Amino acid sequence: ETSFAPVVVAVDGPAGSGKSSVSRAAARALGFAYQDTGAAYRAFALHAADSGVDLTDPVAVIGTLGTFEYEIGTDPDDHYVRVGGRDVTDEIRTPRVTASVANVSKIPEVRAYLVDLFRQVIASTRRPGIVTEGRDITTVVAPEAPARILLTASEEARMARRSAEVTGQSAEETARQLAHRDQQDSKVVDFMTAADGVTTLDSTDLDFDQTVSAVVELVRQAASQK
Ligand code: DC
Repeated sequence: ETSFAPVVVAVDGPAGSGKSSVSRAAARALGFAYQDTGAAYRAFALHAADSGVDLTDPVAVIGTLGTFEYEIGTDPDDHYVRVGGRDVTDEIRTPRVTASVANVSKIPEVRAYLVDLFRQVIASTRRPGIVTEGRDITTVVAPEAPARILLTASEEARMARRSAEVTGQSAEETARQLAHRDQQDSKVVDFMTAADGVTTLDSTDLDFDQTVSAVVELVRQAASQK
C-alpha cells in the first residue's frame, strides 16, 4: 500500500456563510473527501448531554470524552455522523443541540481532543485531498494546508440565507439566534479575520455555484504553485 499526504483544503467562516454546503460541493467537484468539524462539536455536545452530565460543568463534560465513539462519513455524497454506532446526522442539527454546543466547544480540553481527531480523519483519507471546514481549520487544525480560505458574507446576506433555510420561525428570530451564535462562537475562536496567508472569499455578491467555483479555483491555484 502506498501512503501519501492528502491535499488539505482548510475552510473557516461564520454561521450562515454557506461554508458547509460550499465545502461539500467543492469536495465533490475536486474528487476530494469532506470533513465537517462543527458536526463533531455538535455530536460531542449530544453525547455529553445523553451521558447525563450538566453541560455547564466542564470537568463533568471532559469526563465523557473517554466514551465518545465518533464516526463521520467523509464521502461528500454520503455524509453521516454516528455516535456509539447510532446515526445522529439529523439530531445534531436540532435547535436543542445548536443552542448547547458552545458550552462544550469553549472547553480547551475538548478542543484539543477534537483537533487531534480531525487530524486523524485527514491522515486516513483515501482520496487525493480533503476539504475540512470549521472555525479554526486555517489556524489550528491545518495551518500548513496549501489552500486556506476564510469564507465570509455580509451579515445581511448570512441572515437572508439562514432564514431561507430555517422554517417555522420569524426572520427576526432567526437573525437574533444567528447574532447570538456569532457572539458566543467568536469568544472561542476568531473566525472573522483572516490569519496570515489565508485568502478571504467574500460570497455576499456570489451565488452558490459561483462560490463553489471560486473555491475550486483557489485550490487549483494553490496546487499549481507547489
Ligand atoms: O459550524 P457549526 O454551526 O456546525 O458549528 C457548531 C459549533 O461548533 C459552533 O458553536 C462553533 C463550533 N465549532 C468550533 O468551535 N470549531 C470548529 N472547528 C467547528 C465548529
